[in-house]
Amino acid sequence: MTKKFETTSMRDLLCGNVDATMIGERLSVCGWVAKRREHGEHLAFLDLRDRSGVVQAVVDGSVDVRGEYVLRITGTVSRRPEGTVNDRLTTGEVELTDCQVEVLSAAEPPPFQIDERSDVDEQVRLKYRYIDLRRDKMQRNLRMRANVNATMRRAMERQGFCEVETPLLWAPTPEGAREFVVPSRLHPGEFYVLPQSPQIAKQLLMVGGLDRYFQIARCLRDEDLRADRQFEFTQLDVEASFVNQDDIFAFVSEAVLDAAEEATGERPGPIGTMTWAAALDRYGTDKPDLRFAMELHDLSAIFVSTEVKAFSAPTIKAMRVPGGAEFTRSRLDTLTEHAKSLGAKGLAWFRVTAEGLDSPLVRFLNPEESAAIAVVDGAQVGDLVLIVADEYALACKVLGALRLVIGAPPVSQGPHRYVWITEFPLFEGVDEDGNLVAAHHPFTMPHPDDLELIDTEPLKVRSQSYDLVLNGWELGSGSVRIHRADIQSRIFQALGISDDEAHHRFGFLLGAFKYGAPPHAGFAVGIDRLVAIFAGEDNIREVIAFPKTQSGADLMTGAPKNITERQIRDLRLKFAPKV
Ligand code: AMO
Repeated sequence: MTKKFETTSMRDLLCGNVDATMIGERLSVCGWVAKRREHGEHLAFLDLRDRSGVVQAVVDGSVDVRGEYVLRITGTVSRRPEGTVNDRLTTGEVELTDCQVEVLSAAEPPPFQIDERSDVDEQVRLKYRYIDLRRDKMQRNLRMRANVNATMRRAMERQGFCEVETPLLWAPTPEGAREFVVPSRLHPGEFYVLPQSPQIAKQLLMVGGLDRYFQIARCLRDEDLRADRQFEFTQLDVEASFVNQDDIFAFVSEAVLDAAEEATGERPGPIGTMTWAAALDRYGTDKPDLRFAMELHDLSAIFVSTEVKAFSAPTIKAMRVPGGAEFTRSRLDTLTEHAKSLGAKGLAWFRVTAEGLDSPLVRFLNPEESAAIAVVDGAQVGDLVLIVADEYALACKVLGALRLVIGAPPVSQGPHRYVWITEFPLFEGVDEDGNLVAAHHPFTMPHPDDLELIDTEPLKVRSQSYDLVLNGWELGSGSVRIHRADIQSRIFQALGISDDEAHHRFGFLLGAFKYGAPPHAGFAVGIDRLVAIFAGEDNIREVIAFPKTQSGADLMTGAPKNITERQIRDLRLKFAPKV
């Protein structure tokens, strides 16, 4: 037996790697008992499992081992008797015979069956995560995650990026999510904040002359949890100096496409771009899922002077649903309710039939309007046309949401369609106090052509920020940063951040910028989301070793938990009564 990388002082090789080339050799393997089958009184078959797979061992039926016992088995590799070969196993031609069995650990019966077929409640899986991790799928997912990280790290190093670890005990960052705070024992009444991202730290590294920084960075945000959100997550975080948006796209594409190739075996083609305005117009969202068509079409011009009351609105957006004429009334009612819950006044639907349009609204349409609806997006008999009439942004948003409800496959289902979304607006709206709200963060550089609009039409100002989208999920985002004090103070003013407040919150960054800040830009890719899609999972929990539940609990450790009186005293904490 030649020594392999997996050889240790206890075993010669992994269970799944025993094969017919080793027949006659005496070998030791270690692992968990996946299955025990009796063969008469004197013989038993054990399937021994480790991370690589299983191997069958024929043992003395009197040995007392049960499921999930941890064993070391030394046996002779033998060909299985004719008719007992198992084609589904890599080790299916062989078995270990003349076995010596050493029990390394006894085990109680596990709380659930460890195989791919049993459908176990997720709460139970998370409570006993260490057992859940023994399943093939979890092993595959975590290994894929490790490979994706390693591949991206190599891609960044190859491009001259330097990995720097930034602090976890930090000050507030401007990402906008609620922060986790950590009380300071040495400074009672004062707090650290766990970073929402290394945003400010990486900008300071640019001032510090690092030139090209990256980090596989843990980020923490106290926000509502969903399929694509956890409190703790990981970013491939990137920042570079003397670059523009295209340079960043090239750096990040290299890492993401390398990772895709590593995980899926196929390298996707170059990633295209689409402006934010085009994405909203065509797909009703800044995260367009390009795996399917159903684009939105504008019929506003046709309905300018319509008699149809429901269509007297600034924008008329229409979408063809292929084959949708079959939708039942109750499905159409559900879609209408959905549209209303998003703020629309209603949803108009038209079945395209051989006899013409079928809809309660048909009798109100003039011939030109009917004709326009009947050919939306090349509509055919059997299709459905949905129309939302409203303000432009709302009409786009509502129809875009219905597009997903009707047409979107689960996020992880192939093919993988990437797109860069560019030219996001600089401000996403106005808050209760009448101040503009930054769409990305306050250090995002406005588009050079729109600087003049900041004071006059701020909501029209485009920014130099961009997202990477995959199958309708936001995979990452970034921007060219402001490195000039004059532009930064104009933006703070527009955001209603006073000099004092800016100084209090970001003084150290603004101070640093006085000492020579290079033009710089960056990006962060959400690794949990990326790996989930590669692994065919629709929830990022499946690619995280120890995730939290939807309600933020860790069912295994019981966190969050009380702390001791002593800790409370040391930290000088006092609790307000629960309300
Ligand atoms: P942003 O806040 O858009 O940008 O985050 C970048 C990416 O991180 C991932 N992500 C999350 N993943 C899982 N759970 C979460 N709660 C969560 N929140 C974010 C997403 C997202 O696209 N500092 C900027 C980047 C920059 O400008 O360079 C930032 O963090 O995939």
